[in-house]
Amino acid sequence: MSGTKIILGVTGGIAAYKAPELVRRLRDRGAIVQVVMTHSAREFTTETALQAVSGRPVRSDLWDPQAEAAMGHIELARWAERILVAPATAEFMARLAGGFASDLLGTLCLATTAPICLAPAMNHVMWASEAVQANRRLLESRGVQLLGPDIGDQACGESGPGRMLQPEAIAKIIAGPVAVAETAGASLRGKTVMITAGPTLEAIDPVRFISNRSSGKMGYSLASAAAAAGAKVLLLSGPVSLPVPRGVECINIESAEELHTAVHRSISNVDIFIGAAAVADYRPAATEPNKIKRVRTELRLDLVRNPDILASVAELPRRPFTVGFAAETEKLREHALQKLEQKKLDMIIANKVGHGVGFDSDENAVDVYWKNGQKSFPLSAKAALAGDLIELIAERYAANSSSAGHGTRPAIAIRD
Ligand code: PMT
Repeated sequence: MSGTKIILGVTGGIAAYKAPELVRRLRDRGAIVQVVMTHSAREFTTETALQAVSGRPVRSDLWDPQAEAAMGHIELARWAERILVAPATAEFMARLAGGFASDLLGTLCLATTAPICLAPAMNHVMWASEAVQANRRLLESRGVQLLGPDIGDQACGESGPGRMLQPEAIAKIIAGPVAVAETAGASLRGKTVMITAGPTLEAIDPVRFISNRSSGKMGYSLASAAAAAGAKVLLLSGPVSLPVPRGVECINIESAEELHTAVHRSISNVDIFIGAAAVADYRPAATEPNKIKRVRTELRLDLVRNPDILASVAELPRRPFTVGFAAETEKLREHALQKLEQKKLDMIIANKVGHGVGFDSDENAVDVYWKNGQKSFPLSAKAALAGDLIELIAERYAANSSSAGHGTRPAIAIRD
């Protein structure tokens, strides 16, 4: 991030007291940070503190002739290579979604072509409210990246998703490749990573299908983190409503068979394969050409097994470093280790799934297993978790490449 020009927008939530630390974490990584505060942010932190840690006068007023004479708001919007708003309150998200230019920060967000990231922070009930979630979806569909929120104890005394991610976690995500390369000791620069994400849809007739609750968030977050780590990323995605992360090439598929074909069409130059898609294990034996009529009292569907895409990649004679997921409702460790061994994977990421857990939520908790090793990651925002997982994958990939050439590795023996 050396020399990267970042506008840090600070809005009026209690987490604003962490803004000075965030400035330091960004500057530690070489960024040039220009703080822009909203008026209500002053209730929680001071201009003096932020000026001291950023080394630059803080901007807050659209109508300050002196500041505008030094660098007008349009110039400032052009100057920024990135805008990060942390904390981003529900009110600021609503203003941004509505396109309001009623203060300096809102105006900068409209006038910039730089990528915008928000680290939301609010009470968990506010975060879950329909209005905030609608604004979140709208902002994401426009390419705004949301970092978090994290879950845990809140300033209001309650607990749940809504806390701002810790400054170190935000700085790490923003820093991307540099952070991953530095901490993992292994960059993904020059590597090709293929990631599958989202559900598959298995057609019953022209209007009906079998599918599952995968939202694609885990896979898309991994794609974003891998791209930030310098990799060339090919994302193969089932039907989801998420924007394609910056710098990622995306191929859309619907069914497991389409995914299987798309994976094998491009797998030959892939260094790392990550199977995060929730691939339907079965599909209807036949797809009816016309809509099935509601005439019978009972209807039976014959299902046939879909190809196991992950196992088919791991079986290739010169296979990439192959990482699978295990989505389990019970016996997480036992089933994950079985999959690691049976599918001959290099690594498996086990997550518990169920109502509102794992699938279609903003957070996840995982246990990762590989030959002679394991690591647990507690419940956290998928964006932050993805950064940690890519870091671990880069580390294991590097260790694996130095000990044995790809395609020559024997099947893994697991000791339980
Ligand atoms: O998309 P989100 O809402 O963010 O939710 C994330 C997630 C829960 C979907 C994700 O974290 C996850 O666990 N993905 C894998 C889901 C799954 O299909 O798990 P499984 O245990 O049934 O399959 C094991 C592995 O084999 C997976 O890597 C899967 O992609 C792969 N597989 C499964 C069946 C099949 N026919 N082909 C496959 O490649």
